[in-house]
Amino acid sequence: MANSKVIAVTGATGSQGGGLARAILADPSGGFACRAITRDPNKDKARELAAKGAEVVRADMDDVESLKKAFAGAHGVYCVTNFWEHFSAEKEKTQAKDMADAARAAGAKHVIWSTLEDTRTLMSPGDTRMPMLQGKYRVPHFDGKAEADAYFSDLPVTYLVTSFYWDNIYMFGMAPKKGDDGVYGWTFPMSDKKLAGIAAEDIGKVAYGIFKAGQQYIGKTVGITGENLTLTEISDKLAKGLGVRVKYNAVEPDAYRSFGFPGADEMGNMFQIYRDFEKEVLGARSRDAARSLNPSLQNFDQWLALNKSKIHLD
Ligand SMILES: NC(=O)c1ccc[n+]([C@@H]2O[C@H](COP(=O)([O-])OP(=O)(O)OC[C@H]3O[C@@H](n4cnc5c(N)ncnc54)[C@H](OP(=O)(O)O)[C@@H]3O)[C@@H](O)[C@H]2O)c1
Repeated sequence: MANSKVIAVTGATGSQGGGLARAILADPSGGFACRAITRDPNKDKARELAAKGAEVVRADMDDVESLKKAFAGAHGVYCVTNFWEHFSAEKEKTQAKDMADAARAAGAKHVIWSTLEDTRTLMSPGDTRMPMLQGKYRVPHFDGKAEADAYFSDLPVTYLVTSFYWDNIYMFGMAPKKGDDGVYGWTFPMSDKKLAGIAAEDIGKVAYGIFKAGQQYIGKTVGITGENLTLTEISDKLAKGLGVRVKYNAVEPDAYRSFGFPGADEMGNMFQIYRDFEKEVLGARSRDAARSLNPSLQNFDQWLALNKSKIHLD
């Protein structure tokens, strides 16, 4: 441990960073040590990482000086923002810039920036099929991250393009809801197109693979997926795994955007991008690349077998 290279992990108490932290800690002879960054070292998830051997350090993405202290001496830095805490692409970009600046100040040898593609490149600015949001974005949590790529460009960086977590099914209340007919239904504006999905835990395992591989991934973009499935395929797999009937209702994106829950417009635009630009979105993500970096990469059925107890149907 004493000679291990430190990887400072933002979001360590969350899905992506947590997966990376656990991957580092599960491989004590791998040559890396985990510095888990959180605003609250006393929270349960931080204590769990400390109990497994992580160095837990307090820092706030809204305070660049705290990031500089937290990244000091680190060989590697994993940078992930949490758009869903504030819903602001501008704030997400500021947090990304502060993390890039702090990684630069620390002289980090390898930085991974968890990013997404700029969906605006897929359509002309005058395209009216979906609204612009927050003034100049199609999908703010994608486009803001893509704009933030530039903050990292002079660093030894790997851009990690992630996919939709299947874990959203239990984490964000996306699970199918029981109808009067006893059939569980859920609604997406995805038509019969495939969704690139992944077990959230696998993102961190891929990131660990990138840090282990080192130099060869610097300056590269790595897009990852666990499995690409239509919503009908996912519904059938859920039905089989959970022992209930599940029906996917396909709606138009305009209908989805009007549902009114926080972020409905953003999610509607995102799913419409997945639907209208299936080839581009799937083409930017590779299962083979993910599996080569994380040999235990799960497919949907494997993820479901491990996580079905977390899915509460009502
Ligand atoms: N859900 C999906 O399907 C999906 C797919 C692709 C990409 N993403 C992207 O993933 C990102 C979120 O990552 P996640 O799912 O791993 O997050 P998460 O599980 O929701 O956890 C959020 C993490 O961010 C940390 N954090 C948030 N604000 C912070 C701040 N101001 N200072 C320090 N730490 C802060 C939290 O740490 P503490 O609270 O402990 O401080 C926590 O560890 C989003 O930007 C989203 O766009 C999500």
